Amino acid sequence: MKVLVTGGAGYIGSIVVEELVHVGDEVVVLDNLSCGHRRAVHPAATFVQGDLVDRAALKGLFEAHDFDGIMHFASYTLVGESMQQPFLYLGDNVRNALNLVEEAVAHDVKRFILSSSANLFDRPEHIPITEAERIVPGSPYGEGKYLVERILAWLDRIFGLRYAALRYFNAAGASPSGQRGEDHRPETHLIPIVLQVALGKRDKVVIFGDDYHTRDGTCIRDYIHVSDLAQAHILALRALQGADAQSRIYNLGNGLGYSNLEVVETCRRVTGHPIPSEFGPRRPGDPAALVAGSDKIKRELSWEPQYPELEAIVEHAWAWHRAHPDGYST
Ligand SMILES: NC(=O)c1ccc[n+]([C@@H]2O[C@H](COP(=O)([O-])OP(=O)(O)OC[C@H]3O[C@@H](n4cnc5c(N)ncnc54)[C@H](O)[C@@H]3O)[C@@H](O)[C@H]2O)c1
Repeated sequence: MKVLVTGGAGYIGSIVVEELVHVGDEVVVLDNLSCGHRRAVHPAATFVQGDLVDRAALKGLFEAHDFDGIMHFASYTLVGESMQQPFLYLGDNVRNALNLVEEAVAHDVKRFILSSSANLFDRPEHIPITEAERIVPGSPYGEGKYLVERILAWLDRIFGLRYAALRYFNAAGASPSGQRGEDHRPETHLIPIVLQVALGKRDKVVIFGDDYHTRDGTCIRDYIHVSDLAQAHILALRALQGADAQSRIYNLGNGLGYSNLEVVETCRRVTGHPIPSEFGPRRPGDPAALVAGSDKIKRELSWEPQYPELEAIVEHAWAWHRAHPDGYST
C-alpha cells in the first residue's frame, strides 16, 4: 500500500513509519518539523517538509501521489498547553485535519487512521475504560480530537470514507531496533522524565499527589509500547480495505495500569540508578486512574500487545535514551 503519514517525523509517527517500511508499504511523510526530527524519518520513506495549513501544497501532494490510505499524527499534542491556548486545539488542530480530509475526499482516498486520545475520558465511570464509556473530554486537546472523530463519522456517512479512530492511552518505549525513540522538547511524559534523572539531566523527579484512592496513593496510568501501537495501526489500515469494510473506533492501551511510584521503581531497577524522587501536590484535573479496555481491538483485529510489561517498555526506552542522550541531536 502507499500510505501518507502526517507527523511521521514525530515520536509515534516515525516508529509507525519504520514498521510500515518493514511490512513493505510505500510511505510518504508530511511533517513541518515543528516538533519532529528529520533524522527520525526512515530513509526508505519519501519525506516532504510541509504544513497541513498549506492547502495548495496539500493539493499538490495528493496530485503527485496515489495514496491508498492516510495516518494522521500531526497535531499540537499538549493537554496543559491546550488549557492556555485553546484555539490552537479547537481551531488549528481541527482545521488542519479538515484540510487533510477534504483533499482525501477530493482525491478519492477512502482509508484514514486518526490518532485520538484517552483524554476523551476525563471522568470514567468504569475502569478499564471501554469504547462504551461516556465521552467527557478533559481539555480543548481532547475536545479537538473528538470533533475530528465526529467529522470523520459524517464523511463516512456522506462519502464512504472509512476511518479508524485509535484512542491511545500513554504511548511509551522506543522502537525495538533502537533507532527511534522519544525526543519531545519540552518533555512532558513520565517515563522519559524519570529516565532524564538517570541520565543526569535532572536532579530528581516530582510525583504529583500521594493521596489518590489507588493501591499506593499515586496516579495509575496505562502505558502502551509504541511498537504495539504501530502494529495496531497496520492492522487497522488493513481492516479498512475491501468493499464491505466498516469504520472502527478502538481504545488502545495494554489494559495494565501502573502507578507513578511503580514507574519510578521500574526505572530504578532497569537503570541501576537511585533516581531520587519526592512528592508534590496533586495537579488539577489529574484523574486517579486511567486504564484502557482494549478487548474490542483484540477481538476484531487479533491485535495482541507484544510488550505489555512495564519492564520491557522501560528497557527499550532506556536503551534509546542511553544511546541518544540528546535525542536526535546526539
Ligand atoms: N504520545 C502520546 O502518548 C499520545 C497519546 C494519545 C494521543 N497521541 C496523539 O498521537 C499523535 C502523535 O503524538 P506524538 O507524541 O508522536 O507527537 P509528536 O509531537 O512527537 O509528533 C507530531 C508531529 O507532527 C508534526 N506536526 C505538527 N503540526 C503539524 C502541521 N500543522 N503540519 C505538519 N506537521 C505537523 C510535528 O512536527 C511532529 O513531528 C498526536 O496526534 C497526539 O495527539 C499521543
